[in-house]
Amino acid sequence: MMRVSKIVSVLLLPVLISIVNDNGVEASHKVFKRFQSLSAERVSPLHRPAFHFQPPMHWINDPNGPMYYKGLYHLFYQYNPKGSVWGNIVWAHSVSKDLINWEALEPAIYPSKWFDINGTWSGSATVVPGKGPVILYTGLKKDQTQMQNYAIPEDPSDPYLRKWIKPDDNPIAVADRTMNRTSFRDPTTAWFGKDGRWRILVGSKRKHRGMVYLYRSRDFRKWVKAKHPLHTKQDTGMWECPDFFPVSLTDHKNGLDFSYNGPNIKHVLKVSLDMTRFEYYTLGKYYTDKDRYIPDGSSPDGWNGLRFDYGNFYASKTFFDYKNKRRILWGWANESDTVEDDTKKGWAGVQLIPRTVLLDSSGKQLVFWPVEELNTLRGKKVEIKNKKIDYGQRFEVQGITVAQADVEVTFNVGSLAMAEPFDPKWTNAQDLCNMKGSTEKGGVGPFGLITLATPDYEEYTPVFFRVFKDTATNELKVLMCSDAKRSSLRTDDGTEPKDRMYKPSFAGFVHHVDFADGRISLRTLIDNSVVESFGDKGKVVITSRVYPEKATTENAHLYVFNNGTQPVTVESLNAWSMNKPLEMNEGAH
Ligand code: FRU
Repeated sequence: MMRVSKIVSVLLLPVLISIVNDNGVEASHKVFKRFQSLSAERVSPLHRPAFHFQPPMHWINDPNGPMYYKGLYHLFYQYNPKGSVWGNIVWAHSVSKDLINWEALEPAIYPSKWFDINGTWSGSATVVPGKGPVILYTGLKKDQTQMQNYAIPEDPSDPYLRKWIKPDDNPIAVADRTMNRTSFRDPTTAWFGKDGRWRILVGSKRKHRGMVYLYRSRDFRKWVKAKHPLHTKQDTGMWECPDFFPVSLTDHKNGLDFSYNGPNIKHVLKVSLDMTRFEYYTLGKYYTDKDRYIPDGSSPDGWNGLRFDYGNFYASKTFFDYKNKRRILWGWANESDTVEDDTKKGWAGVQLIPRTVLLDSSGKQLVFWPVEELNTLRGKKVEIKNKKIDYGQRFEVQGITVAQADVEVTFNVGSLAMAEPFDPKWTNAQDLCNMKGSTEKGGVGPFGLITLATPDYEEYTPVFFRVFKDTATNELKVLMCSDAKRSSLRTDDGTEPKDRMYKPSFAGFVHHVDFADGRISLRTLIDNSVVESFGDKGKVVITSRVYPEKATTENAHLYVFNNGTQPVTVESLNAWSMNKPLEMNEGAH
């Protein structure tokens, strides 16, 4: 289980919690005064992703206010213009026609008014019919009090939305005496109720109870707090970056707008837990008359719950793409390298590939898939068909740039009879992955991909499945792992946890696998230091950040392996070299 230790930061953020754990998630936003405004002398290309979204240099965190407006996708994000650690945060701003090739504009929002002079933190955008886009964000005033503000474009007819104005009737929401004024942030996109009022959520906590406050407004200016929060949960700590949206039970192709409230839907409430730096979500019913949300109970409300991504993924946010009727998820992956190294590299943090979000046909979980526009970056292709892999065997995928690739595999396990017995004590997927690894012999699995590897496995990051059977219930338990434990030869540089590279064995259980004719699929996007994997058509997604010393660029190898006694067939493997987006990050910051 997780060993949670130690609160940090007297300086700035009383909310910051550091988790010191070899196999947990690293806390972020630690404050490093000496690095905060240290401009990068150079930008190191080693380990730098090629096709993931990044500014030309320095630190980034949460995606903010994604939206589609007048033919352009907008992405804002938390950005430190002065250094490669968290600090000096502004809303950087980029636009794109296709979610892949981006043009950087000037920062949209930065500290300038009494209500945000100490920080312009995360928030959302809502396109208000008849008015245009409105940004809601958290501002920090001089004494660190957090409050919610709004900003509107100077010229809503300009698709680029370059200049943003903060009207004088800000702030729109301040904490009253019953609330925690330093844990009150990250307003959601608004949705519109049948009663003619807009609604938003704001993340917060009271003592250790995490919660989302609900606010209502008729005119998008004057907001009134509802008597009850929309939802709360004890002992979960601060709820950052909440997201609340409907999904369709019947339409498995299109997403739904935030305000949609017809039949055959469920709602999703996602929160980012500052205590663990993991996110979780529940599916549930939104009672619009009472403005209450009740989770289904199909997955726990807390950090053992379902996740958008079981790896390095935080502060995510969805938006509804009016152009293609999709719901799209953006999420941030922090570095897993040391702060000193981030500073030396001159950059830190990436936005992961935007993913479509749909309800799985089971109705009990979401499924995620990279937006199809990503395929436009596919270059040279290799294809492998019907290749059987016996126990202890592997084969190499050659002929493409394997350190910068998109790999899609369909495995066929044949029979599931050899599945190992599942011990009900194994409640934590990550611990199980850490314990068994990819090399311990199994029955059905471990099998999968070995990414960013040296031929002798001095360095490697395996992404794989291992199938168990609960003998009491006869239920299959499918573990998916993305194991960074041996990803880099670099040993711990120091005794302090903050000096160590972070190499966790990220994992999740894949629920509702149907093994149609024995099949299960895996897609992995490899981008130098990003390994982003989609198991069983997106039921489980895991992102790892890894920093090999030897298995980099043309020295990296990619294998398909099987360490289970049951032979596994690769029915098809399609892998592509990935090109760099064209316009990416050519603009000013
Ligand atoms: C999440 C978060 C938000 C906050 C922002 C500050 O990573 O801590 O709660 O608004 O980052 O940059």
